Amino acid sequence: MSPPAPTAPLIIQGGLGVAVSGWRLARAVASAGQMGVVSGTAIDAVHARLLQDGDPGGHLRRAYEAFPIPGVAERVLERWLVAGGRPAGRRYRAHPMLTVEPERFHLELIVVSNFAEVWLAKDGHDGMVGINYLEKIQMATAPSAYGAMLAGVDTVLMGAGIPSAIPRVLRELAALQPTSLTLDVAGASPSTEHVTRFDPAVVGLPVHAPRRPRFFAIVSSASLAKFLARDVETRPDGFIIERPTAGGHNAPPRGKLQLDGVGQPIYGDRDDVDLAAVASLGLPFWLAGADSTPDGLGSAVASGAAGIQVGTAFAFCAESGITDELRTAVLDDVVEQAVTVRTDPRASPSGFPFKVVSVPGTVSEPEVYDERRRVCDLGYLRTPYERSDGTLGYRCPSEPVDAYVRKGGDIADTVGRKCLCNGLTATVGLGQVRRDGVEPALVTAGDAVRTIGTYLGADGSYTASDVIDHLLLAVSTGGGQSNSIEL
Ligand SMILES: Cc1cc2nc3c(=O)[nH]c(=O)nc-3n(C[C@H](O)[C@H](O)[C@H](O)COP(=O)(O)O)c2cc1C
Repeated sequence: MSPPAPTAPLIIQGGLGVAVSGWRLARAVASAGQMGVVSGTAIDAVHARLLQDGDPGGHLRRAYEAFPIPGVAERVLERWLVAGGRPAGRRYRAHPMLTVEPERFHLELIVVSNFAEVWLAKDGHDGMVGINYLEKIQMATAPSAYGAMLAGVDTVLMGAGIPSAIPRVLRELAALQPTSLTLDVAGASPSTEHVTRFDPAVVGLPVHAPRRPRFFAIVSSASLAKFLARDVETRPDGFIIERPTAGGHNAPPRGKLQLDGVGQPIYGDRDDVDLAAVASLGLPFWLAGADSTPDGLGSAVASGAAGIQVGTAFAFCAESGITDELRTAVLDDVVEQAVTVRTDPRASPSGFPFKVVSVPGTVSEPEVYDERRRVCDLGYLRTPYERSDGTLGYRCPSEPVDAYVRKGGDIADTVGRKCLCNGLTATVGLGQVRRDGVEPALVTAGDAVRTIGTYLGADGSYTASDVIDHLLLAVSTGGGQSNSIEL
């Protein structure tokens, strides 16, 4: 007899990049019976830097030892581990940037880091662990998912694009077959298809094939949900319906972009998601950027949702990857009711609006932004473009302006862009050392950041389980409907 299907969690802890939802946070949430999600975005760079810091606590080495294909994790350690950590003030070694054909040593780092993050998140309990990727970072998707699957990831969650190819990619990887993704290439001639391929055999094959994880697509409209659900080839196993109040990237408003007095996109009725239409698709869904309160959870369930996806409340709890200094700075502002979050339509090189919290010393401050010398050396948000000879180049509107323009980019695209790769990596304490100091951080959060004071204890902090216990109040006291949706 097959085991009963797992019951859908009421709360999914959203993937929080870069490394804000690392294995510690996801493990805490999964141990408490809800779904913990590690962020897979740029996790190769995060691990390369943690290893250069000497792998504090030895956690990565512990996970790498469990990697099921001999020799691979050893080569990663040999290349990146600095015993005892790099000397104070020494810059991190340059990290390989993604291309359509990453070199083998880079593929190994991607696969092993994704494996280890999931392995650590799953260690010591049998709760559910997912991994989050951005659809836009196409060249990392297949090797990243392969690594996560080798660690038995339960669910892959992906948004910031149209993830129609992902069900096929996961199926092919689970069969240990080569897989591929058609790349979005700027300026490509209609007759040319550019493809990024990944063959798991290049990294190595395990004795037992991994199982295919569930796939949840993160979308912001019922029409995209419907589009993905209509064909078995593109149909996900569930949806996260993300609203514009959520932290991180947001979908742009429908129609012509209009800005309010402080330059934020104005959302209207057309941006409301038709939840009845989503429910009619018959797949479980969770609301993100909704009202993350006990009542909000109750009304989400009443609208047909399986529950809610929560990010902001978890981003500032004790298990989050954000440095203590930045976390405390934001929590102090929350207590003083002085916290400001702005939806910046220009900040992200992806072109999607991105929420930025005002924190002194970070690139939210115009003088810090202006003083930062543009440099592109992580490059996750670079997009491929076709050169006149048909070959691929890569560019990012946050890179040095002259380089972007030289590559055929429009100078107007560069205005107001922030380097999310370097800023977000600095937010978790792994900022690159430059001649003029360490890279400044960039903090993102949703509108709900104003309300996280609810969770604060006498010590000025709170844990992931405080968030879960509070959100489940209505359910546990019988005020909300308990959830029995099966996955
Ligand atoms: C710090 C932070 C980082 C985030 N990073 C990502 C990300 O990398 N990928 C993603 O799909 N969503 C990301 N999100 C969105 C969350 O996964 C989640 O959907 C959202 O936070 C839910 O709404 P809330 O902010 O109101 O809790 C991020 C949110 C926050 C607060």
